[in-house]
Amino acid sequence: MRMIFIGPPGAGKGTQAARLVERFQIPHISTGDMFRAAIKAETPLGLRVKAILAAGELVGDDVTVGLVRERLSQSDAAEGFMLDGFPRTVPQAEALEAMLAEQGRPLQAVLLLEVPDSVIERRVVGRRMDPETKRIYHIDSNPPPPEIAGRVIQRPDDTPEKSAERLGIYHSQTSPLIPFYEQRGLLRRVDGVAPPDEVTKRIVAALE
Ligand code: AP5
Repeated sequence: MRMIFIGPPGAGKGTQAARLVERFQIPHISTGDMFRAAIKAETPLGLRVKAILAAGELVGDDVTVGLVRERLSQSDAAEGFMLDGFPRTVPQAEALEAMLAEQGRPLQAVLLLEVPDSVIERRVVGRRMDPETKRIYHIDSNPPPPEIAGRVIQRPDDTPEKSAERLGIYHSQTSPLIPFYEQRGLLRRVDGVAPPDEVTKRIVAALE
């Protein structure tokens, strides 16, 4: 399966991707996670993108496309992949399309996780992550167990202000991907407002 996940910040893409990789046995490739790992390791890329992520803005298309090109060339992505957070602009989608056409392995599905703006801020601001296991929690709907509660962290871009900024960028720069993939017959819409298990069922039904 070669697929991408699109949806607003906090829609639940990362939560669902972590569940689906086990089912489909393909790598979950999140550009956000790759940038955060580079920042943590203080690589040249990390130092370059740190302020951009903290501000909730987008990293440049050239840097992001180069990163994904390299990741997709790794052997574990040969049989399929689940891209999360990429593409995020029409130029990124065009670059991905050209890259996959060159390799003779076009995309098979684009899953749009639909969550209204009114739900987004609560999901984003309440998110916590365990830096050891990378598991995602929510202070209300899925609180971290007491034994790890002291080590969970909040992302610097998960404030109400940055959440609103990221949502604005989603509407202006990422949502044009919806007609882009609709025209190609690849788009599958899933309502993301339900408990995570129910959303997983909806996604599996949409993909099968
Ligand atoms: P990225 O990490 O991709 O952030 P995002 O797209 O904003 O998505 P999030 O990680 O915020 O949300 P999610 O949909 O994965 O939700 P989650 O499952 O965690 O990107 C971060 C930054 O990197 C960007 O701002 C940009 O700077 C840069 N970047 C990345 N890719 C780029 C690109 N291609 N080009 C340029 N720049 C790029 O869930 C959120 C919360 O909701 C959690 O607390 C979770 O527990 C809870 N939750 C999940 N599902 C449910 C549910 N069904 N019901 C109730 N709560 C739920």
